[in-house]
Amino acid sequence: MILYKNYWFRPSIIESILRAQNSFKPRPEDTIIAAYLKCGTTWLKALFFAVTNRSQYDFDHHPLLFRHPQEVLPFIEVPIQGNLTYLETLPSPRLLSTHMPLSLLPKSTVSSGCRIVYMCRDPKDAFVSWWYFYNKVHIGYHIDLKTAFNMFSEGFSDHGPCWGHYLEYWRESIARSDKVLFLKYEDMILEPIKHVIRLALFLGAPFSIREEEDGVPEQLVRLCSFEKLSSLPENQTGRFTMLANTVIEKSWYFRKGMVGDWANHISMEMGRKLDCIVEEKLKGSGLVL
Ligand code: A3P
Repeated sequence: MILYKNYWFRPSIIESILRAQNSFKPRPEDTIIAAYLKCGTTWLKALFFAVTNRSQYDFDHHPLLFRHPQEVLPFIEVPIQGNLTYLETLPSPRLLSTHMPLSLLPKSTVSSGCRIVYMCRDPKDAFVSWWYFYNKVHIGYHIDLKTAFNMFSEGFSDHGPCWGHYLEYWRESIARSDKVLFLKYEDMILEPIKHVIRLALFLGAPFSIREEEDGVPEQLVRLCSFEKLSSLPENQTGRFTMLANTVIEKSWYFRKGMVGDWANHISMEMGRKLDCIVEEKLKGSGLVL
């Protein structure tokens, strides 16, 4: 991996980040979903798409029943089928996503006034999720759990350190709460309906009283639930080809979808060690995980 402006990346990702920095032109009407790796981007993409387009589709014929959530919102830094100008061809308002740290997005992203929705997650769960994912994607480059954990704890992980990633968006959400919404995976799992209502409000499209009476937020949450999405044939079979010809099975984006699975993989002592490191890094920021 290469250290680029305080974050570690694989070389192929650096190339695409540099390209995005030069070519991405943020618009004030854009909304961008941002997250560190394995913090629930797939889920947030689905929720975001469903909330934004809720008046267009009924729940029996919804596009999310036939398309993987990763396909409904493009990544800023991943060109679609090699087309570098694809994002420019999209009409406003665009719904986009990124794993890039805030400081690596073009400076005009913040000044454009576009909305950003960020999702963070307990680093212990994000780590375990990443470890599984990494070993599936990088066949022949298996990394054992202990080595991976030590690397992750030192901030030496793909797009890491995660705490730097979290903090940049957290600070921006404090400074500009009308434009940056900071969500936690654990809160969303605990109270999904409350957070979907919050998301719609933030996006400037609050649920009407009628919609709430009709149970629309509940239906959206059900449609985007782990159980529903992971059981759909579209999400169980097939694959994507991502950057540097990396092949990813669509089903790999759905593993357990739960809070606290880390305890089934790393010891309490390791968990405490990572907690202490992260607490120290977040100290004074007001962000508590
Ligand atoms: P686990 O590996 O802990 O199960 P990302 O989408 O950012 O790659 O994150 C993947 C993680 O989100 C995985 O976590 C995956 O199972 C979980 N996930 C995917 N869809 C979800 C959903 N609808 N609800 C909750 N978690 C979901």
